[in-house]
Amino acid sequence: MQKNPDFIIGSVPIFGRVILSPMDGFSDLPYRSLAREYGSAMSITEFISCIDVVKNYSKAEPLLRFNEEERPIVFQIYDSDPSRILEAALILRGLGPDIIDVNMGCSAQAVVNRGAGAGLLKEPEKIAEIFKKLTSALDIPVTGKIRLGWDKDSINYPLISRIIEENGGKALAVHARTKKQGLRGPADWNAIAEIKNSLRIPVIGNGGIDQVEDIDRMLAETNCDAVMVGRAAIGNPWIFARKDINEVSGDEVRDVVLEHLKRMQVLYGESMGLIRFRKHLKRYLQPFEFNSEAKKELMTTNETSDFISIIKDMFSNFDV
Ligand SMILES: Cc1cc2nc3c(=O)[nH]c(=O)nc-3n(C[C@H](O)[C@H](O)[C@H](O)COP(=O)(O)O)c2cc1C
Repeated sequence: MQKNPDFIIGSVPIFGRVILSPMDGFSDLPYRSLAREYGSAMSITEFISCIDVVKNYSKAEPLLRFNEEERPIVFQIYDSDPSRILEAALILRGLGPDIIDVNMGCSAQAVVNRGAGAGLLKEPEKIAEIFKKLTSALDIPVTGKIRLGWDKDSINYPLISRIIEENGGKALAVHARTKKQGLRGPADWNAIAEIKNSLRIPVIGNGGIDQVEDIDRMLAETNCDAVMVGRAAIGNPWIFARKDINEVSGDEVRDVVLEHLKRMQVLYGESMGLIRFRKHLKRYLQPFEFNSEAKKELMTTNETSDFISIIKDMFSNFDV
């Protein structure tokens, strides 16, 4: 067992330098716990609306479930109203997360239109107010996840990152693209290096990790404390064990598919678990050239027993 943490967020020791990105619809308890077992250094929830926490708790509740083994567990929240963010954070504090993270990167129209997510990047004073309020009221670390700015003409990460640190933020994750870029185009790793160089709190780099080699390259090129992996981790928890998908055997993929499905069904129930698992399944199967009829059957069956026998059958005839 590793004794010394790789870095510390406030008072929370972090062992490891690769972390599963928060991803709405993907980084729920079943997938986070799997990723954590494969080596993701901490667990971050999908983003959670503060409005839901305060006014519509039953909607937020499923997103807040976690396993003790996932710790450190980070609840990521989003909103544009500093007072409501504080109110939600105080409610969430009661559930025992290790860290609360503020989303300042979501580029979805519905979110930015009301000034939340990346919309906050346009209002640096509000970010200062949010961090001041949260860090004064909470006895656990508060962190942030940002983008580089709204668009290429309004890059403001030097200001935003400084504000977050000055107002008590204990770590910063940087998705090295602008809001305008969405998820496309090159991530500017030089910006991550610049932020790391100018802050004292840990900096987590994010954006453009496609394979294992990129993890070490981002760590080396930016000196960031950890790397956050988003899309390349969907259907690929092995990336946290620093294994590329072409190094994973068919048997391992089959076993993880069945285990992941099982965890989804425990959380969401048998029927909904199977339906929700399909988007993950698509990604697990992507590297394999399976018969398209079998794949279609797998994607449409509502029977768990059929699903399991089709999967076993497919992989029994295949290995990489
Ligand atoms: C489907 C999807 C959902 C996402 N949801 C969130 C979210 O809830 N919170 C967040 O901070 N970022 C979210 N992101 C952004 C990712 O965390 C990450 O910053 C982005 O995908 C860039 O990393 P990558 O190039 O490794 O994918 C989401 C991304 C995707 C693809």
